[in-house]
Amino acid sequence: SGKEETQKGFTAFEELPARQASGLRLAQGFVYKNLCAFGDPLKAGLESYDPKKLSAEEQKNRFGGACDFLHVFEQSADEAIICINNEFPEHGQHPDSKERKKAAYHSVGVSVAAIKRDKDKNWEVNLSSPYSRRITPETKAVITGPAAGHERMKSKASPDGIVSAGTLGNCAGGYTPWGTYLTAEENVQGYFSGEIKGHKEEPNFKRFGMNKKGNFFAGIDPRFDLDSEYQSALHFGLVVEIDPLKPNEPMKKHSMLGRCKHECAKVRVRKDGYVEVYTSDDQGFEYIYKFVSAKKYKEGDRDYNKSLLESGVLHVAKFAEDGTMKWLPMVHGQGPLTEKNGFRSQADVQIDSRKAADLLEATPMDRPEDIDINPKTGNIFFFMTGNRGRSASKLNAANKVEQGAGHIIELNDQGDGGEWSFFVICGKFSGDPAYSSFSKETTLQGCFVYPDNGAFDLNGELWVCSDGYSFPGFTDGMWHCQKTEGGALSKRFATPPKAAEFTGPYFMKNGKELFLSVQHPATNPSGSFPDFNHLPARSAVVVISRS
Ligand code: FEO
Ligand code: CA
Ligand code: CA
Ligand code: CA
Repeated sequence: SGKEETQKGFTAFEELPARQASGLRLAQGFVYKNLCAFGDPLKAGLESYDPKKLSAEEQKNRFGGACDFLHVFEQSADEAIICINNEFPEHGQHPDSKERKKAAYHSVGVSVAAIKRDKDKNWEVNLSSPYSRRITPETKAVITGPAAGHERMKSKASPDGIVSAGTLGNCAGGYTPWGTYLTAEENVQGYFSGEIKGHKEEPNFKRFGMNKKGNFFAGIDPRFDLDSEYQSALHFGLVVEIDPLKPNEPMKKHSMLGRCKHECAKVRVRKDGYVEVYTSDDQGFEYIYKFVSAKKYKEGDRDYNKSLLESGVLHVAKFAEDGTMKWLPMVHGQGPLTEKNGFRSQADVQIDSRKAADLLEATPMDRPEDIDINPKTGNIFFFMTGNRGRSASKLNAANKVEQGAGHIIELNDQGDGGEWSFFVICGKFSGDPAYSSFSKETTLQGCFVYPDNGAFDLNGELWVCSDGYSFPGFTDGMWHCQKTEGGALSKRFATPPKAAEFTGPYFMKNGKELFLSVQHPATNPSGSFPDFNHLPARSAVVVISRS
């Protein structure tokens, strides 16, 4: 049966000890193959990656770096399109020449690649496919929803406040049932700089952490200069929809889903036909949101469905001590969202979603990151990566550990609200195990902190990847985690190369393959993953299967 097949594929494994080296380690009996890495050709006619020769022009047709969330659009057993987020410049913030800085500029965004099986049945990139392409800060986009065409969105680069370009800080994301890719713009502040003090948008920019320095791309594109083109910054911090099958269509930047440091965007079609998108704002004390569409999903009508994220209502989560929660609608003119509080229209509510959520008294969370939907139960899982700023006086119903090192919340969502519980509490920044809710059977390397990216396999079992680089004594990894009577039982499946973290797990429908991003191994200067030759380490996507 399918169940046994998948069990054999992934769930049954012997736990991996937490040893970190320059290589990628997997539980016994599993192997990985490289699919692509930063700088590899995405189009035919380019030489193989050579860091000394990277040019800005070539980078437009090479894979981006800092691979984060990915999704595989499976077309047949042997063909697919993969979309990969390229979260930040692979070689960090300070490239050593103008040419390299420009190459870095073209290396962020999203990589879209047609992939196919080669003669040995391994996946390879189809360099001659029209679908294989890069989405860079220059790729054409349009703003949709209430903020489209609003005064606050108009700039020199976008006189109508609708036409836009680029996507940045692409962390996690999602995909729609109509076959489009969603990418979430998270840490966009690193791309902008200017004087914030006394600025028209000061409170908004300050809360994002924008400042005078910290501009990755100063001097390359005036849109990132807050002193002149400040409205351009309001075009970022959005959820972006990309159609992998329409390379010439502008991507859509959906203001209807709010503007914040979006971590992800997970979609489901409700039984009544309306579409819900769950998204979180990855900063300490920020919020979890849910968009509900105004129109119903129409099976098979792809063009129509592509408009569903343009109108509806954004909600923000409020968790109560009694294990219930409510989704608070963020509608202009309702409750505190009025002109008196600075909201002159729905556009203001969408652009300043954080401020609107404050006024609605939503629950400030411990850095909410990924959200995953259990395909078997329909329950929604919210990952908190932890919050050093959470002091005893700031605890609340859904964030109960002082200086928490992360937790996962499970919600049975009924629409306007639902019932929630803690799926697992990871512990405290101090590492005090008394605060964790792992079962006694969970070993030391089986426990994780800072849950960042997750995925459910075909059996509805949860897998977790951590972002715990800064936790003393902790080794990042990927775990299989299930609820037992004695708490969450978690087992280490994989350990990334030193200094890297795993992101974007995707289980193929065949139950036999797992696509996984390996992000920022190059922060280890002696590392050499994935080539293990003369080349320095670089971010990559690998395909894991049983040997
Ligand atoms: Fe890019 Fe929220 O981690
Ligand atoms: Ca993340
Ligand atoms: Ca993270
Ligand atoms: Ca991360």
